[in-house]
Amino acid sequence: MTDRTPHPQTDLLTSAGPVAAPAAPAGRPRADAEALYAQAAADRLGFWAEQARLLSWEKPFTTVLDDTEAPFHRWFTDGTLNASANCLDRHVAAGLGDRVAYHWHGEEGETRTITYAGLLDEVQRFANALRGLGVTAGDVVGIHLPMIPEAVVAMLACARIGAVHNVVFGGFAPQAVGERLAACRARVLVTVDGARRKGRVTAVKQTLEETLRTLPDLEHVVVVGATGASCPMWPGRDSWYAEQCAAADPVCPAVPLPAEHPLFILYSSGSTAAPKGIVHTTGGYLTGVSYTHRIVFALDPERDVWFCTADIGWITGHSYLVYGPLLNGVTSVLFEGAPDHPHKAIWWELVERYGVTQLYTAPTAIRAAMNWGEELPGRHDLSSLRLLGSVGEPINPTAWQWYHRVIGGGRCPIVDTWWQTETGSIMIAPLPGATDAKPGSATRPLPGVSAELLDADGTPIATGTGLLALTEPWPSMLRTLYGDDQRYLDTYFSRFGKDTYLVGDAARLDEDGHYWILGRTDDVINVSGHRLSTAEVESAVAAHPGVAEVAVVAVPDELTGQAVVAFVTPAAARTGDAALEAELREHISVRIGKLARPKKIVWVEGLPKTRSGKIIRRLLRDLVTGQETGDVTTLGEPDVMAALTAAVTPPTH
Ligand code: WTA
Repeated sequence: MTDRTPHPQTDLLTSAGPVAAPAAPAGRPRADAEALYAQAAADRLGFWAEQARLLSWEKPFTTVLDDTEAPFHRWFTDGTLNASANCLDRHVAAGLGDRVAYHWHGEEGETRTITYAGLLDEVQRFANALRGLGVTAGDVVGIHLPMIPEAVVAMLACARIGAVHNVVFGGFAPQAVGERLAACRARVLVTVDGARRKGRVTAVKQTLEETLRTLPDLEHVVVVGATGASCPMWPGRDSWYAEQCAAADPVCPAVPLPAEHPLFILYSSGSTAAPKGIVHTTGGYLTGVSYTHRIVFALDPERDVWFCTADIGWITGHSYLVYGPLLNGVTSVLFEGAPDHPHKAIWWELVERYGVTQLYTAPTAIRAAMNWGEELPGRHDLSSLRLLGSVGEPINPTAWQWYHRVIGGGRCPIVDTWWQTETGSIMIAPLPGATDAKPGSATRPLPGVSAELLDADGTPIATGTGLLALTEPWPSMLRTLYGDDQRYLDTYFSRFGKDTYLVGDAARLDEDGHYWILGRTDDVINVSGHRLSTAEVESAVAAHPGVAEVAVVAVPDELTGQAVVAFVTPAAARTGDAALEAELREHISVRIGKLARPKKIVWVEGLPKTRSGKIIRRLLRDLVTGQETGDVTTLGEPDVMAALTAAVTPPTH
């Protein structure tokens, strides 16, 4: 299409233009950062209002926070805006239409270059196509797609017309997809004929078919033809994405929406089996992600090439692969594939090829890369990198050091970013250049964020170990759990009251006021009345050169209350034998103390992980305590459980 006339609302661009003043490439001067902390502390709401005003509002807000129904907080309530206009139209209106939004890199090396103007064109068409299917503001649209550009288009097309997207991770099994679509009553699903994974194509739509027929609310299925996989279509219900876009009107003005209009629902695992539908709204969420993306990663949108390896189906993909980078007008790499396909140096090849300046990934991936050996990254020129990020789990100092030395060439700051699906955006992280790095610590709450460490009674702790809590509302916080306000109250606000959001993580606070996240509170191990964290023990074990990967769980013990069991994958050059066991026991005694020595070490070839790479310790715990293993639908590699069961079960003769 040729008509790229943006919607008039882009005239409301703030004087700051499409992006806030970029930080200097090397990071932020210390004094400048301290001024930011001080400003936020002195006038927290004023600070957030200032961040929010960097977005483009159709109708400016006058109310910053409405907490009359706390903890159902509402931000910027009388303002209106549109997420897709903020991500696309205002950049195009500012003359940046030719800037690359995504360098898409396919599994087999195919590439697509998608500019901001090109993305806007396709989003407008698909938004009109959705309208043609009867989708209106407030309707829920399910998106179940692999890492292809159409996933971004579908999200922004929903946002453009006020539909609420619910992205269901592409790797979920049909039953899990069906449960999530049913729970949010999706009227339309956008999916794909087939998905590629490590050189193989699997049929997606066809495999889902049986489940889709059980969903009473589902009226239409739009299918992206990505692989040519077998894909029967139901007349009247199913249509092809390409045909929909070709037939659609190319102009679709963005609909101005109240700030509290829901932007998306994203299901996340809780401590019970039923997933929680975390609801994020428009104005606050966009404020939080654009602000944090800008300051934590010291963005320079003119030059940066941003590479976030998270899948679009997780919150990190939503916040830092889609909304954050687009709001800030940054160029991103969008990689379809797995980190070890077509070869184990593919990420490093991409860094060199696209000149990636910031890489944002998870400790699990760093440890895998470590185990594959440093000669792989060594084959590529990684000198374009200037900042590295870590997210999702505590990063053990050994992995941190390796990331810093081998990937960052010893020159790139590492930002260890702590946050959750619920928080929407990063809450605790260093400001590069201004906060001294401590390997393993996420350091300080960002300016505008109020955190405290509490003891079991809710009394704040100045230094030591306790429960992490967020003690003031923040714009990008979840608003509720979809359809279940009571569960929202029970899960986050029942223990210490409506002013204290209980995170569910344990942490240690050191003398500098820096936080060390120790892991979920349900993963804290209490051995003989001494508190240990799975993360702490794992970090020690992982530091041993004979170990590739480790997960630690607590099991009940008659003598000590709880005891430690370690599941260990030996490094490539070692085998799990008595010699390595003795070395590890000694090593742990030296690193943490005899207390932390595992009661048992189980040698395993692989650990049970979610498809986003988080180790599911619950399954390990069930195995060693001889319980039925609960819900396994979130497992990335289902076969791993059979091998693990064999590893913990003594052979019968
Ligand atoms: C953990 C992912 C230590 C933590 C963005 C949290 C971390 C949960 C870190 C949320 C970090 C996340 N250091 N632990 N930097 N980041 N976590 O909802 O236990 O998938 O509560 O969000 O991951 O996971 P979620």
